[in-house]
Amino acid sequence: MDFMDISKMRITTRQFDSKSVEKEKIDKILEAGRWAPTAMDAQPQRILVLDKPEQLDKVRQFCTFGVRKEYREIDENCDQGDDEHNVFYYGAPLVFLVCWDRTVCWSHPESGESSGSVDATIVTTHMMLEAASLGLGTVWISYFDKDKARDLLDIPENFEILCMLYAGYAASDFKPNKKLSGRRFPVSHTCFDNTYDTPYISNYKDDYRDPRLE
Ligand SMILES: Cc1cc2nc3c(=O)[nH]c(=O)nc-3n(C[C@H](O)[C@H](O)[C@H](O)COP(=O)(O)O)c2cc1C
Repeated sequence: MDFMDISKMRITTRQFDSKSVEKEKIDKILEAGRWAPTAMDAQPQRILVLDKPEQLDKVRQFCTFGVRKEYREIDENCDQGDDEHNVFYYGAPLVFLVCWDRTVCWSHPESGESSGSVDATIVTTHMMLEAASLGLGTVWISYFDKDKARDLLDIPENFEILCMLYAGYAASDFKPNKKLSGRRFPVSHTCFDNTYDTPYISNYKDDYRDPRLE
């Protein structure tokens, strides 16, 4: 598969099979992240691989919030039957918690702006696309209780938490969320030709339609 094919077939998975992910695949995902570029090659990412039941149980605790109606309406899988809480866990057998070390990442010398979250984002993107190429589903999770995560997982004080990437085999009845997936604006909506008052017109012919969204 070439890069364009992987980019287009990757789709967010929010229903996982309980089958474990083979170590060989976990290792490849981490390797793809390892080769991501980072500012000044500082490699500030610090990734916690969670696949033991007692650690996944902690994820279940800090990805859980009180009911938010708007999310319940967007994503029927976000609430696993508990009327008190939205549970954003989706049965994932493997979770990567992505942090970056504030003490080693590059910062802009004048503005002081840190590159850590950008670096860790690129690393996570590499991992997500490698997982897709290995036939695994993923979902990027930003909405969770980071303070609780820090507490339950003993995350060092100098590590900033970026996100979680849930990974695993899609459940046999997995259906992508049509309200959130497969809806990209045309290039002319997000890209501009030399000045921001001129939309960029692409000649790329996009006739890709994801069969899972039919
Ligand atoms: C930075 C970022 C944060 C996200 N946070 C969440 C999240 O907290 N929970 C969730 O269910 N999906 C989350 N997603 C998944 C997006 O909703 C999803 O990528 C988007 O709707 C496009 O769908 P697709 O990935 O199937 O193409 C996040 C994605 C990104 C890139």
